[in-house]
Amino acid sequence: MQLQGKSIIVTGAAQGLGRKMAEMLVERGARVALADSDERPLREAERGCRDALSIPAGGACRGYVADMREEAEVTELFQRVREDFGPLDALVNNAGITRDALLVEGGEGLVAARMSLDDFRQVVAVDLEGVFLCGREAATHMVRDRRGGVILNVSSISRCGNVGQTAYSAAKAGVAAMTVVWAKELARHGIRVAAIAPGFSDTRMVAAIPETIRARLVAAIPAGRLARPDEIAEAAVFVLGNDYFNGRVLEIDGGMRL
Ligand SMILES: NC(=O)c1ccc[n+]([C@@H]2O[C@H](COP(=O)([O-])OP(=O)(O)OC[C@H]3O[C@@H](n4cnc5c(N)ncnc54)[C@H](O)[C@@H]3O)[C@@H](O)[C@H]2O)c1
Repeated sequence: MQLQGKSIIVTGAAQGLGRKMAEMLVERGARVALADSDERPLREAERGCRDALSIPAGGACRGYVADMREEAEVTELFQRVREDFGPLDALVNNAGITRDALLVEGGEGLVAARMSLDDFRQVVAVDLEGVFLCGREAATHMVRDRRGGVILNVSSISRCGNVGQTAYSAAKAGVAAMTVVWAKELARHGIRVAAIAPGFSDTRMVAAIPETIRARLVAAIPAGRLARPDEIAEAAVFVLGNDYFNGRVLEIDGGMRL
Protein backbone atom coordinates (compact mmCIF):
# COMPACT_ATOMS: atom_id res chain seq x y z
CA MET A 1 0.00 0.00 0.00
CA GLN A 2 1.32 3.42 -0.94
CA LEU A 3 1.00 5.57 2.18
CA GLN A 4 0.59 8.93 0.45
CA GLY A 5 -2.91 10.32 1.10
CA LYS A 6 -4.10 7.18 2.91
CA SER A 7 -6.47 7.44 5.88
CA ILE A 8 -4.91 5.62 8.86
CA ILE A 9 -5.98 5.32 12.52
CA VAL A 10 -3.21 4.78 15.08
CA THR A 11 -4.49 3.84 18.56
CA GLY A 12 -2.43 4.67 21.64
CA ALA A 13 -0.85 7.47 19.61
CA ALA A 14 -0.42 9.99 22.45
CA GLN A 15 3.06 8.76 23.30
CA GLY A 16 5.69 6.06 22.91
CA LEU A 17 5.62 3.77 19.90
CA GLY A 18 2.19 4.92 18.69
CA ARG A 19 3.22 8.56 18.60
CA LYS A 20 6.40 7.75 16.66
CA MET A 21 4.43 5.58 14.20
CA ALA A 22 1.90 8.39 13.69
CA GLU A 23 4.68 10.93 13.06
CA MET A 24 6.41 8.65 10.55
CA LEU A 25 3.16 8.02 8.69
CA VAL A 26 2.40 11.75 8.54
CA GLU A 27 5.92 12.35 7.19
CA ARG A 28 5.13 9.87 4.42
CA GLY A 29 2.02 11.81 3.41
CA ALA A 30 -0.67 9.75 5.18
CA ARG A 31 -3.77 11.28 6.78
CA VAL A 32 -3.35 10.08 10.35
CA ALA A 33 -5.95 9.93 13.13
CA LEU A 34 -4.15 9.81 16.47
CA ALA A 35 -6.49 8.07 18.93
CA ASP A 36 -5.89 7.79 22.66
CA SER A 37 -7.76 7.84 25.98
CA ASP A 38 -5.26 10.25 27.58
CA GLU A 39 -6.19 13.70 26.32
CA ARG A 40 -3.30 15.87 27.56
CA PRO A 41 -0.45 13.93 25.89
CA LEU A 42 -2.72 13.34 22.90
CA ARG A 43 -3.03 17.09 22.29
CA GLU A 44 0.77 17.42 22.65
CA ALA A 45 1.27 14.63 20.10
CA GLU A 46 -1.22 16.27 17.75
CA ARG A 47 0.61 19.61 18.06
CA GLY A 48 3.93 17.80 17.62
CA CYS A 49 2.72 16.25 14.37
CA ARG A 50 1.37 19.56 13.09
CA ASP A 51 4.19 21.88 14.17
CA ALA A 52 7.37 19.83 14.11
CA LEU A 53 6.70 18.10 10.80
CA SER A 54 6.21 19.79 7.51
CA ILE A 55 3.20 17.76 6.41
CA PRO A 56 3.58 16.74 2.77
CA ALA A 57 0.80 17.29 0.25
CA GLY A 58 -2.07 14.90 0.90
CA GLY A 59 -0.99 14.38 4.51
CA ALA A 60 -2.85 15.41 7.67
CA CYS A 61 -3.13 14.62 11.35
CA ARG A 62 -5.83 15.02 14.00
CA GLY A 63 -6.25 13.78 17.57
CA TYR A 64 -9.32 11.87 18.82
CA VAL A 65 -10.01 11.06 22.45
CA ALA A 66 -11.39 7.52 22.76
CA ASP A 67 -11.11 4.57 25.12
CA MET A 68 -10.45 1.40 23.14
CA ARG A 69 -12.12 -0.72 25.85
CA GLU A 70 -15.48 0.89 25.15
CA GLU A 71 -17.45 -0.50 22.20
CA ALA A 72 -19.53 2.66 21.69
CA GLU A 73 -16.46 4.93 21.79
CA VAL A 74 -14.65 2.75 19.25
CA THR A 75 -17.66 2.85 16.91
CA GLU A 76 -17.90 6.64 17.24
CA LEU A 77 -14.14 7.08 16.72
CA PHE A 78 -14.20 5.25 13.39
CA GLN A 79 -17.30 7.19 12.29
CA ARG A 80 -15.71 10.55 13.13
CA VAL A 81 -12.48 9.67 11.34
CA ARG A 82 -14.50 8.64 8.29
CA GLU A 83 -16.30 12.00 8.30
CA ASP A 84 -12.99 13.88 8.62
CA PHE A 85 -10.69 11.80 6.40
CA GLY A 86 -12.95 9.65 4.21
CA PRO A 87 -12.91 5.83 3.96
CA LEU A 88 -10.39 4.06 6.16
CA ASP A 89 -7.32 2.51 4.54
CA ALA A 90 -5.44 1.16 7.57
CA LEU A 91 -5.58 0.65 11.31
CA VAL A 92 -2.57 0.41 13.61
CA ASN A 93 -3.94 -1.44 16.65
CA ASN A 94 -1.29 -0.20 19.10
CA ALA A 95 -2.89 0.92 22.41
CA GLY A 96 -1.69 -1.23 25.28
CA ILE A 97 -0.96 -1.34 29.01
CA THR A 98 0.94 -3.55 31.45
CA ARG A 99 0.16 -4.47 35.06
CA ASP A 100 3.14 -6.65 35.93
CA ALA A 101 3.03 -9.07 38.87
CA LEU A 102 4.03 -12.64 39.61
CA LEU A 103 1.15 -15.11 39.59
CA VAL A 104 1.97 -15.96 43.21
CA GLU A 105 4.86 -14.52 45.21
CA GLY A 106 6.48 -16.15 48.23
CA GLY A 107 8.45 -19.21 49.31
CA GLU A 108 8.97 -21.81 51.99
CA GLY A 109 5.28 -22.63 52.05
CA LEU A 110 4.18 -19.01 52.39
CA VAL A 111 2.35 -16.97 49.75
CA ALA A 112 2.94 -13.24 50.26
CA ALA A 113 1.00 -11.92 47.25
CA ARG A 114 -1.05 -13.03 44.27
CA MET A 115 -1.73 -11.33 40.97
CA SER A 116 -5.13 -9.67 41.30
CA LEU A 117 -8.04 -10.58 39.05
CA ASP A 118 -8.63 -6.85 38.57
CA ASP A 119 -5.12 -6.34 37.14
CA PHE A 120 -5.55 -9.39 34.90
CA ARG A 121 -8.87 -8.08 33.58
CA GLN A 122 -7.57 -4.51 33.04
CA VAL A 123 -4.76 -5.78 30.82
CA VAL A 124 -7.03 -8.11 28.86
CA ALA A 125 -9.61 -5.31 28.44
CA VAL A 126 -7.13 -3.01 26.66
CA ASP A 127 -4.59 -5.37 25.10
CA LEU A 128 -6.97 -8.06 23.83
CA GLU A 129 -10.58 -6.82 23.88
CA GLY A 130 -9.56 -3.34 22.69
CA VAL A 131 -7.62 -4.85 19.79
CA PHE A 132 -10.65 -7.01 18.96
CA LEU A 133 -13.06 -4.03 19.05
CA CYS A 134 -10.86 -1.84 16.85
CA GLY A 135 -10.02 -4.69 14.46
CA ARG A 136 -13.71 -5.57 14.07
CA GLU A 137 -14.65 -1.92 13.47
CA ALA A 138 -11.87 -1.45 10.90
CA ALA A 139 -12.89 -4.64 9.08
CA THR A 140 -16.54 -3.55 9.11
CA HIS A 141 -15.71 -0.24 7.42
CA MET A 142 -13.32 -1.84 4.94
CA VAL A 143 -15.74 -4.60 3.90
CA ARG A 144 -18.60 -2.10 3.47
CA ASP A 145 -16.39 0.26 1.45
CA ARG A 146 -15.12 -2.56 -0.81
CA ARG A 147 -11.67 -0.94 -1.09
CA GLY A 148 -9.61 -3.43 0.95
CA GLY A 149 -7.18 -2.16 3.56
CA VAL A 150 -4.58 -3.14 6.13
CA ILE A 151 -4.87 -3.97 9.83
CA LEU A 152 -1.59 -3.92 11.73
CA ASN A 153 -1.73 -5.34 15.26
CA VAL A 154 0.95 -4.70 17.86
CA SER A 155 1.86 -7.87 19.73
CA SER A 156 5.06 -8.27 21.76
CA ILE A 157 8.06 -10.49 22.31
CA SER A 158 6.28 -11.24 25.63
CA ARG A 159 3.71 -13.32 23.77
CA CYS A 160 6.15 -16.23 24.23
CA GLY A 161 5.74 -15.98 28.02
CA ASN A 162 7.58 -13.44 30.16
CA VAL A 163 8.04 -13.73 33.93
CA GLY A 164 5.73 -11.30 35.75
CA GLN A 165 3.45 -10.85 32.74
CA THR A 166 0.71 -13.50 32.94
CA ALA A 167 -2.01 -11.22 31.58
CA TYR A 168 0.16 -9.26 29.15
CA SER A 169 1.76 -12.39 27.66
CA ALA A 170 -1.67 -14.03 27.30
CA ALA A 171 -3.15 -10.95 25.67
CA LYS A 172 -0.22 -10.49 23.26
CA ALA A 173 -0.31 -14.20 22.31
CA GLY A 174 -4.03 -13.67 21.67
CA VAL A 175 -3.25 -10.70 19.44
CA ALA A 176 -0.83 -12.85 17.41
CA ALA A 177 -3.50 -15.56 17.07
CA MET A 178 -6.22 -13.08 16.04
CA THR A 179 -3.83 -11.71 13.41
CA VAL A 180 -3.65 -15.13 11.72
CA VAL A 181 -7.42 -15.69 11.96
CA TRP A 182 -8.25 -12.28 10.51
CA ALA A 183 -5.67 -12.63 7.70
CA LYS A 184 -7.41 -15.86 6.65
CA GLU A 185 -10.96 -14.55 7.07
CA LEU A 186 -10.50 -11.12 5.51
CA ALA A 187 -8.22 -11.92 2.54
CA ARG A 188 -11.27 -12.41 0.30
CA HIS A 189 -12.24 -8.79 1.00
CA GLY A 190 -8.79 -7.55 -0.01
CA ILE A 191 -7.87 -6.83 3.62
CA ARG A 192 -4.38 -7.69 4.75
CA VAL A 193 -3.72 -8.34 8.45
CA ALA A 194 -0.30 -8.61 10.06
CA ALA A 195 1.45 -7.87 13.33
CA ILE A 196 4.72 -6.66 14.72
CA ALA A 197 6.19 -8.04 17.94
CA PRO A 198 8.57 -5.45 19.39
CA GLY A 199 11.20 -6.33 21.93
CA PHE A 200 11.92 -4.06 24.88
CA SER A 201 11.75 -0.47 23.66
CA ASP A 202 12.63 2.85 25.18
CA THR A 203 9.18 4.13 26.19
CA ARG A 204 7.24 4.90 29.37
CA MET A 205 6.08 1.25 29.49
CA VAL A 206 9.64 -0.02 29.93
CA ALA A 207 10.66 2.93 32.11
CA ALA A 208 8.07 1.62 34.60
CA ILE A 209 10.08 -1.62 35.07
CA PRO A 210 12.26 -1.46 38.22
CA GLU A 211 15.88 -0.50 37.40
CA THR A 212 17.47 -3.81 38.51
CA ILE A 213 15.07 -5.90 36.42
CA ARG A 214 15.49 -3.54 33.45
CA ALA A 215 19.28 -3.91 33.60
CA ARG A 216 18.89 -7.71 33.59
CA LEU A 217 16.57 -7.51 30.59
CA VAL A 218 18.95 -5.28 28.63
CA ALA A 219 21.84 -7.65 29.40
CA ALA A 220 19.85 -10.45 27.74
CA ILE A 221 19.40 -8.51 24.47
CA PRO A 222 22.10 -9.48 21.91
CA ALA A 223 21.93 -5.93 20.49
CA GLY A 224 22.91 -4.74 23.98
CA ARG A 225 20.28 -2.00 24.28
CA LEU A 226 16.59 -1.18 24.17
CA ALA A 227 14.99 -0.46 20.81
CA ARG A 228 14.50 3.18 19.87
CA PRO A 229 10.84 3.97 19.08
CA ASP A 230 11.79 4.98 15.53
CA GLU A 231 13.25 1.49 14.92
CA ILE A 232 9.90 -0.07 15.86
CA ALA A 233 7.96 2.54 13.87
CA GLU A 234 10.07 1.70 10.77
CA ALA A 235 8.89 -1.92 11.12
CA ALA A 236 5.26 -0.75 11.26
CA VAL A 237 5.76 1.37 8.13
CA PHE A 238 7.32 -1.62 6.34
CA VAL A 239 4.38 -3.90 7.18
CA LEU A 240 1.82 -1.29 6.15
CA GLY A 241 3.61 -0.74 2.86
CA ASN A 242 4.45 -4.29 1.78
CA ASP A 243 1.44 -5.95 0.16
CA TYR A 244 2.95 -9.45 0.38
CA PHE A 245 3.45 -9.34 4.16
CA ASN A 246 0.30 -11.04 5.42
CA GLY A 247 -0.83 -13.18 8.38
CA ARG A 248 2.61 -13.06 10.01
CA VAL A 249 4.15 -11.52 13.09
CA LEU A 250 7.32 -9.54 12.40
CA GLU A 251 9.69 -9.78 15.38
CA ILE A 252 11.84 -6.72 15.97
CA ASP A 253 13.62 -7.43 19.21
CA GLY A 254 17.39 -6.92 18.88
CA GLY A 255 17.79 -10.71 18.75
CA MET A 256 16.33 -11.34 22.19
CA ARG A 257 14.59 -14.66 22.84
CA LEU A 258 12.24 -15.18 25.77
N1 LIG B 1 7.67 -0.50 24.96
C1 LIG B 1 7.94 -1.78 24.76
O1 LIG B 1 8.98 -2.30 25.15
C2 LIG B 1 6.95 -2.65 24.03
C3 LIG B 1 7.38 -3.92 23.64
C4 LIG B 1 6.50 -4.74 22.95
C5 LIG B 1 5.23 -4.30 22.65
N2 LIG B 1 4.84 -3.07 23.04
C6 LIG B 1 3.48 -2.67 22.73
O2 LIG B 1 3.51 -1.48 21.96
C7 LIG B 1 2.34 -0.73 22.21
C8 LIG B 1 2.74 0.68 22.61
O3 LIG B 1 3.52 0.61 23.80
P1 LIG B 1 4.37 1.84 24.36
O4 LIG B 1 5.61 1.30 24.90
O5 LIG B 1 4.41 2.92 23.35
O6 LIG B 1 3.45 2.25 25.59
P2 LIG B 1 3.09 3.71 26.17
O7 LIG B 1 2.59 3.45 27.55
O8 LIG B 1 4.21 4.66 25.98
O9 LIG B 1 1.89 4.18 25.23
C9 LIG B 1 0.68 3.48 25.20
C10 LIG B 1 -0.43 4.42 24.80
O10 LIG B 1 -1.66 3.69 24.83
C11 LIG B 1 -2.66 4.52 25.42
N3 LIG B 1 -3.75 3.72 25.98
C12 LIG B 1 -3.70 2.90 27.05
N4 LIG B 1 -4.91 2.39 27.30
C13 LIG B 1 -5.75 2.90 26.36
C14 LIG B 1 -7.14 2.75 26.10
N5 LIG B 1 -7.93 1.99 26.86
N6 LIG B 1 -7.66 3.42 25.05
C15 LIG B 1 -6.89 4.23 24.29
N7 LIG B 1 -5.58 4.41 24.49
C16 LIG B 1 -5.01 3.75 25.52
C17 LIG B 1 -1.91 5.28 26.50
O11 LIG B 1 -2.62 6.43 26.92
C18 LIG B 1 -0.60 5.58 25.80
O12 LIG B 1 -0.64 6.82 25.13
C19 LIG B 1 1.57 -1.48 23.28
O13 LIG B 1 0.60 -2.30 22.70
C20 LIG B 1 2.63 -2.32 23.93
O14 LIG B 1 2.10 -3.46 24.55
C21 LIG B 1 5.67 -2.22 23.73
